[in-house]
This record gives sequence, C-alpha cells and structure tokens, in this order.
Amino acid sequence: MQAFRRELTEGLAASPKSISPKWLYDAKGSELFEDITRLPEYYPTRQERALLRRVAPTWAKGVGPDATLVELGSGASEKTRIVLDALPALAAYIPLDISQSALEEAAASIRADYPKLDVRPVLGDFSALPSLPDDLPSGRRVGFFPGSTLGNLERDEAVRLLASSRRMLGEDALFILGVDLIKDRETLEAAYDDAQGVTARFNLNLLERANRELGTDFDLTAFRHRAVWNEACSRIEMHLEAVRDTQVTLDGMTYDFAGGETLHTESSRKFSRDQIEQLASASGWSVRDWAQSDAPSVALAVLAPA
Ligand code: SAH
Ligand code: AVI
Repeated sequence: MQAFRRELTEGLAASPKSISPKWLYDAKGSELFEDITRLPEYYPTRQERALLRRVAPTWAKGVGPDATLVELGSGASEKTRIVLDALPALAAYIPLDISQSALEEAAASIRADYPKLDVRPVLGDFSALPSLPDDLPSGRRVGFFPGSTLGNLERDEAVRLLASSRRMLGEDALFILGVDLIKDRETLEAAYDDAQGVTARFNLNLLERANRELGTDFDLTAFRHRAVWNEACSRIEMHLEAVRDTQVTLDGMTYDFAGGETLHTESSRKFSRDQIEQLASASGWSVRDWAQSDAPSVALAVLAPA
C-alpha cells in the first residue's frame, strides 16, 4: 500500500488523531511553504538567512577543497545559495527532499546559476537515508539541515536522523544545523497563524491532498487551522480542528470527528542550546560552533564527529 494511504489510515484510527508533517509537502504544499517564508510573522527564514550570511564565510576555511554539500529537506534550495557563495570550493551538491516538484525545480535553478557544481538531487525520505554515491569528489562531506526542520521530528526520530547522517557523511564530516529557539508564546503563535491565512491554507492542503490522491471525502468547510504553543513540550502544534461533527471515508471505512476534535498535523519543537548539545551527543556528534541571531532568535550549530 502507498505510504500516505497507510499512514493516514493509521492516523485516523489513532486517538488522538495524527499524521506525520511530511505529507504536507506535495507540489502545492511546497509552494505554500515558500509563501510562508515570506510572511512578516514567519521570522525563522528571515533570521536564519541573515545569520547564515554573517557566519558562513567564517566557516569556509574549515571545509577545505573538493567538498560535497548534502542537504536534508532542501525545498527550494534558497539558503543553499548563501552557503555556495561563501564556500566556492564546494565541488558537489546533493539536495534530498520528499517533494519531487520542489527538488526538480531547485536542482534546475542551482545548476543554471552554479554551472561548475556537480548537482545530484535525491528524491526520498530522510528517515531512511541512502548511502552516498562512491564517485563523489575527494573532499569532506558537509551536511546541511537548515530551517529547524529537525524540530518537526520527535526526539527519537531526531536522534536517529542525526546518527544516520553521521554514518552517511563519514569520519571527516561537518554538519550545519539550523534550529529555532524557545521564545514567547505571542511571537510563536503569530508565526504559525498568520493574518493572511497562508499557514491555514498550507495545513488544510493536507486534506485536499488526501481527497485528490487517496479519494477521501474530507469536507473542507468542516475544519479550521489551529496553532497552539504547548509550553510543557516546547513545541508549536498545528492541528486541523473539526468545527462541527463530521465524518470522512477512506477505503470504505468511516472515521468520525466530534466537533472540536483535531487531526494533529505538525509539531515544531523549539530548542535551547543545551538541548541541541544533548541531541548531538546522543547521536555521535559534538557542537563545534554555535551562532545566534538577534530576536526573534534562531541558531546555527556546526557539528563535528564526537
Ligand atoms: N530547507 C528549506 C526548506 C524547509 S521546509 C528551508 O530551510 O527553507 C521542509 C522541507 O523538508 C520541505 O521541502 C519538505 O518537502 C522536506 N521534507 C519534509 N519531511 C521530509 C522527509 N521525511 N524526507 C525528506 N524531505 C522532507
Ligand atoms: C519546515 N518546518 C521547519 C516549518 C516549521 O516552522 O516547522 C514548517 C512550517 N509549518 C508551519 N509553518 C511552517
């Protein structure tokens, strides 16, 4: 069975109902995410880009010649350009993403603007990382995982991903990790529930996608977007909340939503420096460098094998 079908079937039967955020990213979801990055309330992209511009040149010397950049959840590969411009010695670039349209468009656009770079896109799920090709340039492998996508994973998933990245990238690796930091509820809830309703469309697109691809009959007028800061778990949660009693049918099975019941579609965990140091050491890395932006604050860490 198709993975999306299987996971939605399990998620609708679970209590509380939930689904992995990776299913938010079909072609329309990837476009909506790019719109989110330009919203005034969504500070993480703006802050991380400014921080990367400031610190990437200072990291360039440590990377050395003929290196390969391996990016997880590369999306539109926009931040990549800041790294490529700061590290002209990069010889190859491997963007990995689950969204085919985003990956293909980004690879074409990077190839056009960096003609000497060997660009090798990989369509896939970063929870099952492939091994790297054996004909890569001879230099260091540098992982790049910006945007706090790490925060969309549960703690054990995050440790597994960091540990498998460590194995995939090899002994001499570096890993540039971008994370969002814990801050006040108001800033966080505005960033995930913007005035123009773009984040709401991004969230609701999951139901439209299911109707398109899986033949479900979600009534889109029966759900609304909710974004809630769960302080005890240090995470912003996105939910689709039933505004009245409603039902959905998937493969002949009917699933009931009582009014007020939600489908939990994403958690976006926010971190402290200590938590990142713990995650790194639980997965075979240590934090070699740490840089923080102005408020609203995000951070970039450079990890090296422990
Ligand atoms: N790195 C970019 C994009 C972040 S959006 C930035 O910082 O702006 C998150 C990206 O991760 C999307 O492009 C999405 O398609 C991808 N993604 C989400 N879950 C994934 C998974 N399990 N495997 C691979 N890619 C995934
Ligand atoms: C990709 N990821 C890190 C984004 C985030 O902030 O958790 C996705 C997103 N969800 C709502 N807005 C943006």
